[in-house]
Amino acid sequence: MKVLIIGNGGRENALSWKIRQSPSVEYCQMVPAEPKEDLLATALSGGYDLTVVGPEGPLNDGIVDLFKARGLRVFGPSQAGAKLESSKVDAKIFMEKYGIKTAPYEVFDDFYASTAYLRRCRFPLVIKADGLANGKGVVICHTFEEGEKALEDLMVRKQFNQSGERVIIETFLEGFEASMLCITDGVRIKPFISAMDYKRAEDHNRGLNTGGMGAVAPNPFLTRSHLEVFEKEIMEKTLNGIQKEKIDYHGFLYFGLMVTAEDIFVLEYNVRLGDPETQAVLPLMKSDLVDVMLATLDEELEHRSLAWLDKRSCCVVACSGGYPQTFQKHKKSRV
Ligand code: AMP
Ligand code: GLY
Repeated sequence: MKVLIIGNGGRENALSWKIRQSPSVEYCQMVPAEPKEDLLATALSGGYDLTVVGPEGPLNDGIVDLFKARGLRVFGPSQAGAKLESSKVDAKIFMEKYGIKTAPYEVFDDFYASTAYLRRCRFPLVIKADGLANGKGVVICHTFEEGEKALEDLMVRKQFNQSGERVIIETFLEGFEASMLCITDGVRIKPFISAMDYKRAEDHNRGLNTGGMGAVAPNPFLTRSHLEVFEKEIMEKTLNGIQKEKIDYHGFLYFGLMVTAEDIFVLEYNVRLGDPETQAVLPLMKSDLVDVMLATLDEELEHRSLAWLDKRSCCVVACSGGYPQTFQKHKKSRV
């Protein structure tokens, strides 16, 4: 098989490393995420048997719908599925409709109404741009002044263009975070090994949120009973929603979770693999990922089980200047 990977960052390098290990793969090429028509031309002229979409931009742009209409095999959700990530408001409405726990919130598209609301709020709280912002559209605010500035940046200065025209103001949840990368064919959904990413730009939980500075898998704090709650109350309910909404979804689905003392809440969905979580998770996967992806496209995921390296293995990734370095270590050894 010839495999085309869209995107060429850390996540896609990890995907490429894993895909090349499949005995069915002869050739695997990464390309930057260009406009979808250019990518279609690349896939057609290169005679690729399978295209795997790394980042959210092309998915949100409807690349999967375009490739499928031209008879190409492509791994990722349709544009309708990509809305779970590209609109945080749509994702919240989906979660409410299907009984999936998330932080209480309000939506605003008017700056003055949002600041008037902010005056009545208790801090800290969280302000989020509705649309895509490269993982940088979320600000945790400790004072009214910080909140007002975040709203002004998003809604008035349009720091992220249209993405911040609508905002969510939500309750700050205290706990630890977990990233669950899953795969679904729309019939079944299966979790990968858990992970945790480190989002702050500086040490000691200071600095602004980033898309992720580093990751560890499995998540060192997540217990078996947390996983059971996640699977029953979040993962399966999300699949149920995807089915009820008749969303065409054959791809990866990422759950960004906050685990509090009381419960587990969804902070966000991503309709792709996480970056840098993928770099920590895929080295632990024993299964042939290409076989699993092809089974997913054929809606045969129920006949595949995912195998992982020994439980004592763990993988840590540190990103610096955007270039990840992967270390695979024994849990007991120093990392
Ligand atoms: P999101 O893109 O919605 O996952 O938000 C990015 C990051 O902001 C998360 O990984 C958390 O670190 C933080 N965050 C988002 N929402 C909340 C919340 N309600 N409470 C506490 N932290 C949050
Ligand atoms: N690391 C979080 C993300 O990929 O959005």
